[in-house]
Amino acid sequence: MSRIRTVRGREVLDSRGNPTVECDVETDDGLFRAMVPSGASAGIHEAVELRDGGRRFHGRGTRRAVDNINNIMSKKIVGMDCTDQNGVDDLLIELDGTENKEQLGANAILAVSIAVCKAGAAATGKKLYEYVGELYGKPYPRMLPVPQHNIINGGKHAGQENSIQEHMIMPVGAKSFREALRMASEIYHALKNILKKRLGAGAVLIGDEGGFAPPQLKTIHERLDILMEAISSVGYEDEIKLAIDSASSEFFEDGIYRLEGKEMSAGELIDYYSDVVSSYPIVSWEDGMAEDDWDGWVEMTKKLGDRIQIVGDDLLVTNPRRIKKAIEIRAANSALIKLNQIGTVTETLEAVKLAHSNRWTAVCSHRSGETEDSFLADFTVGVSSSQIKCGAPARSERLSKYNQLLRIEEELDKEAKYPGEKFRTK
Ligand code: PGA
Ligand code: ZN
Repeated sequence: MSRIRTVRGREVLDSRGNPTVECDVETDDGLFRAMVPSGASAGIHEAVELRDGGRRFHGRGTRRAVDNINNIMSKKIVGMDCTDQNGVDDLLIELDGTENKEQLGANAILAVSIAVCKAGAAATGKKLYEYVGELYGKPYPRMLPVPQHNIINGGKHAGQENSIQEHMIMPVGAKSFREALRMASEIYHALKNILKKRLGAGAVLIGDEGGFAPPQLKTIHERLDILMEAISSVGYEDEIKLAIDSASSEFFEDGIYRLEGKEMSAGELIDYYSDVVSSYPIVSWEDGMAEDDWDGWVEMTKKLGDRIQIVGDDLLVTNPRRIKKAIEIRAANSALIKLNQIGTVTETLEAVKLAHSNRWTAVCSHRSGETEDSFLADFTVGVSSSQIKCGAPARSERLSKYNQLLRIEEELDKEAKYPGEKFRTK
C-alpha cells in the first residue's frame, strides 16, 4: 500500500500545439506523471473534453480542467491508496456525477487516473504493463501488438474534406515488433522518395499523425496504388497488409456519404469499399460507416465481416454500453480503444474485456493530438491486445509509444509473441 501524497494538474501543449492536461501524482515511491491526448475527428458520443472557451488559446485552454484537478479531485484523492485503481476511478466518476464527464472533464479525470495507475505499478514493484495486466484481471498471454501505421494522412488530419482519413500498413509478416517497426520505417522512407520524385516537394509534407499528406492524391485508389508501390520497392509485398480508417462521420450528412466527389447511400458506399477490399490486401476497415448509422454498420459487417476486421471507433467510443449493443446486433467485430474517449483506466479495461470476451479484437489507439506520454504502449501489452494504432513510424509523440514497445519486447525477450500471422490469411 502506498498513499497518494499530492495531486497536481497543469496545462501543457500537445503535438498540435493545443493545450492539454498533465497530472503529477506523488507517493512515497516518487512522482508519477500522465498527459492526455486529444482527437480532431472526435466522435459525438465521446466523454467530454473540457475546454475553457473565450479568446485564450482560441478557446481551447484547459485551465478549468486543471482547476478541477487541483481544487476538487486532489482534495478527495490525497490519502487514498494508489494501488486502488478501481476505488480512485469510481470516486472520480462519482465526483463528476454526469453521464459523459462534462462536469470535471474527461481530460482532467483521465490525467489523474493514468498517473495513479503509474504510481500503483511502482508501489507494487511491477512493470507498468505487468501491473495493467493485473488490473485487467486475466493471466495474460504475453504479446506485442501488430502496429497499424498511418503513413498516408487524409481527411481532417491533412486539412482535406470528403476523403478517407487513414491509409495504414500492418507488418503482419514480421517475426517480432522490432522487425515490424523496421519494415514500416523502410516503407515510410521509400514512400517519401517516390512521392517526392513523382509529385514534388509539396507531396511529402506531413499530416497530424506523421504520415504524408499529398494533396494531389484525392482517391483511395491513387493513394493505395502508390502505397503498394512503396511496399514492393523494398520487397515487402508478402509481409505487409493494409488497414483503412474512413472516419466517415466526417463526410456523412442527412443520410448521404459524400466521398471523393461522389454522393452515396450506405449500400453504395459498402459496395465501393467491397471493390477496394477485393483490389488491395486490406485486412481491417475502421469507421467505414458514420457514428449513428447502425443499419449501415450491420450491413457492412454482414457483407465484409468474415473477410476483414470491421473496427468501430466513433461508433463505439470505448463505451461498454455501445460496444455491448454492437456485439448484440453484429454491427462490427472489433473495437478501437482510446482511453480519453471514456475517461478512466478502469472503464477502458472494461471495454477491452467486453471486446475480448466476445472474441472481438481490441485495437489500442492514440489520438491525432498526442503527447510524449507512452502509457498506451504499456496498456496495450497489459491487456494483450493484438494491435496498436499509433500513427506513422515518425515524430516523437508517435515514437514514444513504439519505442516503449521496443523496450518491452527486449525485456520480455522470447517470452512474448508477435501475432502477425493472425492477419496473414488474405
Ligand atoms: P482523432 O482520429 O484522434 O482525430 O479522433 C483518430 C481516429 O479517427 O482514429
Ligand atoms: Zn478512427
